[in-house]
Parts: sequence; C-alpha cells; structure tokens
Amino acid sequence: MANDFEGKVALVTGGGSGIGRATSLVYAKGGAKVVVVDRDVEGGEETAQLIKEAGGEATLIHADVSQAGDCQRMVEQAVLQFGRLDCAFNNAGVGGRDRVMTAEYSEEDWDRIISINLKGVWLGMKYQIIQMLEQGGGAIVNTASVAGLVAIRGTCAYVASKHAVAGLTKAAALEYAQSGIRVNAVCPGYIRTPLTQPLFDTMEGFEDQAVARHPLGRLGEPHEIAEAVAWLSSDAASFVTGHTMTVDGGYVAQ
Ligand SMILES: NC(=O)c1ccc[n+]([C@@H]2O[C@H](COP(=O)([O-])OP(=O)(O)OC[C@H]3O[C@@H](n4cnc5c(N)ncnc54)[C@H](O)[C@@H]3O)[C@@H](O)[C@H]2O)c1
Repeated sequence: MANDFEGKVALVTGGGSGIGRATSLVYAKGGAKVVVVDRDVEGGEETAQLIKEAGGEATLIHADVSQAGDCQRMVEQAVLQFGRLDCAFNNAGVGGRDRVMTAEYSEEDWDRIISINLKGVWLGMKYQIIQMLEQGGGAIVNTASVAGLVAIRGTCAYVASKHAVAGLTKAAALEYAQSGIRVNAVCPGYIRTPLTQPLFDTMEGFEDQAVARHPLGRLGEPHEIAEAVAWLSSDAASFVTGHTMTVDGGYVAQ
C-alpha cells in the first residue's frame, strides 16, 4: 500500500474508533491527507493525533452522519481544508439490539439503527458524489457486514440496514460507473472493536459462539478490514465496482 494515496484526500466516517481508525491510519500511511469524521470528538481527535504523530496530515470533523446538514458540511469542510476528495469510507455505524426478536423490536431502536447505518451511508455518498463528479472521479467504500449477506438471529434492524447498504452500493456503482466513480462495500466478519467488546464481555458464551462461526477459528482485527478498504479505494482496484467484498475468515462461505 506504500504511496498509493500520495496527493490524495480520504474521508473516513466513524474514524474515531475500531475499523474506521485502523483505515484512517492505513490511508495516512499510504500518503493520504485524512479527514476523520466522528460524532465522538475525543475518539476522532485521538485518531487525528495518531496520524500526525506518525508524520501524516489529518483533520477532525465533528458530525453525525444521520443528519443531512452534517454530511454536506463534512464534505465542504474537507474540500475547504484539503482542496479535493478522492476516497470516502462510509463506515460509521452502530450495533443492533442483540437477542431481540423481530416481533419484540422497538420502533425507536429500528429508527435509530436505520438512520445511522443506512441513511447515514446514503447521505454520505450523496455529498461525496457531488464533489467527485466535479473532480471527474473518486472511489467510495461503504461498510456493510456479513450481516449484509446472511441473517443473524436477534438483530433484525442491523441485518436489514446492512443488506440495504449492499444494495445501495450496487445501485450507486451502476449510476456513476461512467463518471469515474467506483463504489464498493466491505463485509467484515466479527471484529474485536469497542462495538463488539461489550457483547463479548457481558453475554455469556457469545465470544466462543462468534469464534466458532469463522472457519479460520478466530475473530478478525480492525487492520485486516482496513487493508481491504485501502485496496478497494486504490488504483490497484481500478476495474472493481459494485462489489461486496467479504473479509470474514470464511464466515459466509459455509
Ligand atoms: N466490529 C464488528 O464485528 C463489525 C462487523 C461487521 C461490520 N461492522 C461495521 O463496521 C463499522 C465500524 O464498526 P466498529 O466495529 O469499528 O465500531 P466502533 O464502535 O469501534 O466505531 C464506530 C465509530 O462510529 C462512530 N459513530 C457512530 N454513529 C455515528 C454517527 N451517527 N455519526 C458519526 N459517527 C458515528 C462512533 O462514535 C465510533 O467512533 C460499523 O458500520 C459496523 O456496523 C463491524
């Protein structure tokens, strides 16, 4: 990935933690100026600081991806500060309520998860695409999940949001293929991050069950997703669009 992003600007939503932080660091290592977007200022600042300490360039934009005004502003600010936008990783997301069946799911939880995990990805793409069309191209990667390809019991809104991200990715890929904009999705298996750690810590047997579902016999690490996202974002993937790439230790191969 050395120097793949030299002279480029990459925006990462949910860049303040987990997969988003790991990807911000990989983009920066490849030479990109990184726009870290998060609603958690502390986490976002930490990521930006890590990049700067390693000799890179980064800025933090405080934004909630479920709000149209915030998504418009994050792209405008990115362009104001760094002059362009080449790569965008729409990754901010929240976990579903776990072990709550469809008929017991609350409307409040449904709306919250769909508004961040699905609407947030669409809003992000909407303003990124407007900018990329002006520049004549770009590369977008969205975070779906293995739960965007197969169902997981007890988390219907999460499963629905991630299946929809996979569909949205294909729709946008078709629409903008002729405009030099590639749009792909990454589908992680279970990755140890601040999103999943509380589940492993509090739900009896959850970690062992999760490990057992991955043929490689372990959980994934954030940097393993970051490497795939960086490849999809890079010119090395110039003929790849509309793809939902699993990085899941074999989870959906079964
Ligand atoms: N960890 C896993 O096992 C796993 C598996 C498959 C998919 N994913 C997906 O990967 C993405 C990243 O997850 P993670 O595990 O790194 O989680 P994480 O909780 O470590 O990081 C998510 C980041 O997104 C930010 N965020 C949440 N809602 C936001 C909003 N409305 N606006 C702006 N920022 C917001 C959080 O503040 C946090 O910094 C999510 O979309 C998640 O659904 C995770």
